[in-house]
Amino acid sequence: MSNAPAHHIAFEQSAGIAAGSRFVRACLRQPVDRTPVWLLRQAGRYMPEYMAVRKHHSLLDICRTPEIAAEVTITAAERLGVDAAIIFADLLLPFTPMGLEFEFLAGEGPVVHRPVRTAEQVRALRTDRVDELSYVAQAIEKVARHFSAPRVDGDQLGIIGFCGAPFTLASYMIEGGSSRNYVETKKMMYGDGAAWPLLMEKLVTVLVGYAAQQVEAGADVIQIFDSWVGALCVADYRRYVLPATAELVQRVQGLGVPVIYFGVDTASLLPSMAETRADVIGLDWRVPLDEGWKAVGRGCAVQGNLDPITLFAPDDVLRERVREVMTAAAGQPGHIFNLGHGIVPDTPVESVIKVVEWVKEFSRHE
Ligand code: CP3
Repeated sequence: MSNAPAHHIAFEQSAGIAAGSRFVRACLRQPVDRTPVWLLRQAGRYMPEYMAVRKHHSLLDICRTPEIAAEVTITAAERLGVDAAIIFADLLLPFTPMGLEFEFLAGEGPVVHRPVRTAEQVRALRTDRVDELSYVAQAIEKVARHFSAPRVDGDQLGIIGFCGAPFTLASYMIEGGSSRNYVETKKMMYGDGAAWPLLMEKLVTVLVGYAAQQVEAGADVIQIFDSWVGALCVADYRRYVLPATAELVQRVQGLGVPVIYFGVDTASLLPSMAETRADVIGLDWRVPLDEGWKAVGRGCAVQGNLDPITLFAPDDVLRERVREVMTAAAGQPGHIFNLGHGIVPDTPVESVIKVVEWVKEFSRHE
C-alpha cells in the first residue's frame, strides 16, 4: 500500500478491527467476501421498536441520552441484519453549542428560532464549546462496546459516526428550517463576501472537533451529509462550497478514518464532489449507479442507491430493483449497498429486511 493516502496507512496500522469489517474494507476499495449493506435512516419512524421508544421520549431526548441513543442504534442494526450501525443523532445537534436554539416541530421538521441572516450573527456563532456534544461520543462508546465481538459470520460490524456538511448546515441556520428555493442562503452566499466564508470556516472548525470525538469513541467511518447540496449549480458549488467541504473531508480523514460524502440530487455535481477526495461518495437514487460511479471516477468507492420508495413496491418488483443496483455495481471492489436517500415513515419493515437478505444473496463471492 505504498501509494495509499496517509490516512489509510494510519488507519490500517491503528485499527486491528478494520481488517475484519467488510464495510470498512469496501470503503477503502479492498476485496470483500460479499457486498456490505446498511440503510440511510435505518433507525427511524417506520420501525415499531423506534416508535415505542419515541412514545416516551422526544427526538432530542433520545439523541442526548447515550443509553437510549445506543439502544435505538443497536436495535435497528440487529433487527435488519446490516453490516454497519449509524449512530442515532441528528444533523442539527452542533447548533446548540454554537449558540443557535432550535426544536423539532411535529410535521414540520427542524425550526431555528432566530435564523442567521447578518454578518454580525455569523461573527457571534461560537466554535469553542464542542465538548458539549460529548453525549454523542458516549453513545458511540456504548455501541462500539456492544459490537466489539465479531458476529457469527466472523465479520466485525462497522460503526458510523456522522455530521452535516457546511452547505447543508448553513442552509438550516440561514433559512431557519427546510426550504424550497434557498433564497436566504443564496443571498448570503452571493451578497456577503465576508459572512459566507466565515460561516463555512466556523462550521468546519466545529465539525472537525465533533468528528474527532466520535472517532476517539470508536467510530470506524464518518459520513458527511450534504443532503441539500443539489440546490446548487456546479459553478456555485465549486466556488462557494467545495473549498470548505474538501477541507472538512481531508481533516476528518486526518483523524485516521475513511469518509463517506453523501448528497441528494447530485448527478451534475458528482465529479466536483469527488474532488473533496472523500473515500466514498454516496449516490442518490436518481442516477444509475454505474453512471454515478463513472462520474466520480474509479478511484472512489460508491454507496447506494436504491430508491427508498421502491420499498413500497410488490416483492417481485423490489427484488428486481435490488438486482439492478447489484448488476450496475458488477461486483467491483468499493460498492456499499444502500438506499439513495433515507427510509420514509410507513415503509413496511418486512420489505426492508428482505432487501438486506437479497443483497446478501446476490453478492456472495464463494
Ligand atoms: O438511522 C438513522 O439514520 C437515524 C439517525 C439520523 C437522524 N437524523 C434522526 C432523525 C440521521 C442520520 C439524521 C440526519 C439528518 N437530520 C439529515 C441527513 C439525512 C437526510 O435525510 O438527508 C437531515 C437533513 C436531518 C435534519 C432533520 N431531522 C429533518 C429534516 C428532520 C425531519 C424529517 C421528517 O420527516 O420529519 C429530522 C428529524 C429526525 N431526525 C427524525 C429522525 C429519526 C424523524 C423525526 C422523529 O423521530 O421525530
